[in-house]
Amino acid sequence: MKFIKREQLKEKPSDLQFGKHFTDYMFMMKYHDGGWDYDNACIKPYEPFVLDPSTSVFHYGQAVFEGLKAYKNDKGEVRLFRPMENMKRMNDSCWRLCIPQFDEKFVHDAIAELVKTEKDWIPTAPGTSLYIRPFVIATDETLGVHSSKNYIMAVILSPVGAYYAHGFDPVRLYVEENYKRACKGGTGNHKVAGNYAASILAADEAEKKGYDQTLWLDAAENKYMEEVGSMNIFFVINGKVVTPKLGGSILPGITRRSTIELLKARGYDVEERLVSVKEVVDAAKDGTLDEIFGTGTAAVVSPVGEFGFEGKDYKVGDGKLGKVTKYVYDELTGIQTGVKPDEFGWVERVI
Ligand code: COI
Repeated sequence: MKFIKREQLKEKPSDLQFGKHFTDYMFMMKYHDGGWDYDNACIKPYEPFVLDPSTSVFHYGQAVFEGLKAYKNDKGEVRLFRPMENMKRMNDSCWRLCIPQFDEKFVHDAIAELVKTEKDWIPTAPGTSLYIRPFVIATDETLGVHSSKNYIMAVILSPVGAYYAHGFDPVRLYVEENYKRACKGGTGNHKVAGNYAASILAADEAEKKGYDQTLWLDAAENKYMEEVGSMNIFFVINGKVVTPKLGGSILPGITRRSTIELLKARGYDVEERLVSVKEVVDAAKDGTLDEIFGTGTAAVVSPVGEFGFEGKDYKVGDGKLGKVTKYVYDELTGIQTGVKPDEFGWVERVI
C-alpha cells in the first residue's frame, strides 16, 4: 500500500459530535480502464476531491457507502467489529448500482492499515469510537445516464460520540404514513446514497413536529413497520423481542443481526416477522409494549421513549431506558471494546 505523508497534523477535537471531525489521513483507490487500481491505492492526507462539475455522481447519485467502527480500550488495544460483513454488504450495494465488485480482503486490509495509522485519533471515553466511512462514487464526466466507467473508492475516519445530540436518552420517533423510504425491488435493502436523500424531507418534517427521526412503514400496504433509516428497529412486546423481517426493502443491519444472534444465544425469544403499526399501537394501549429500541453502527443501541402516529403520541414502557435495550447495549459494546469475551468471534484485533 502506498503511503503519502502529511506535513502537518491536525489538532484533535475536544467535542465528538457525530461526523463533524475527520482525521489526518484517508484511503483512496480508483477504478479505471476496466479494473480497480490496487497498485496505486494509497493512504494519503485527508483532502478535498477535485471533480469536474459534470461528474456523474453529482447528477445521478451512483454512490454507495458503509459505516463501521474501531474501538480502543485504555490498554491501547484496537478492535474492529465484524468488518468483513461491511465489505460484503458494500459489494452487494455496488452490485445493485452497477458499480464493479472489489476485492473485499484488500479493502478490509486497507481499512485496518488506515486505522492503525490513525490510532491516536481513536477516543477511549465510554460511548466513543472512531467511525469508519468507506464509500464509492461514480466519476465519469458525462450527463448520459449509464453505469460509469470510472469510480473513486475512499475511506475517511471520524472520531465520534453518540449519534443523537441528546446521547443515550430515549428518542421520539414519528411513524410516517405519507412518504415512503423504499419498496421491494428498489434499493432500500442496500446502502446507497439515494435512500438517504429520499428520507430527508420526512425527517425534516418529523423534526419540526418535535420528533428525532422517522419510523418508516412499508410502501405496499402502509401497515408494517420497516426501519428508521439510520437504524433498524426492535420491539419488546409482552416480554418477546420482535423485529421486522427483511423483505427486500429493509437494510440488513450488521448490528441488527448481531442483536438477534446475541439475544437468541442468551435464551431470549426473538421473532423476525411482519410487525404492524396496529399491533404496536394496541400493545402501547394495553400496557404490553415494554420497549422499543433501534440498532445501527452509528446509533449503536438507542432506546425509544415515545412514538407518534396519526396525530397521537404513545409512550413506550415507562418512557425510560428498558431492560432488554440496556442488556443489548452493554453486551454489544462490551464485546466491541474488548471488556466482555467475544464468544461469537465478531471482533478483530488491529493493534
Ligand atoms: C451507520 O449506522 O453507520 C449509518 O450509516 C447510518 C447513517 C445514517 C449515519
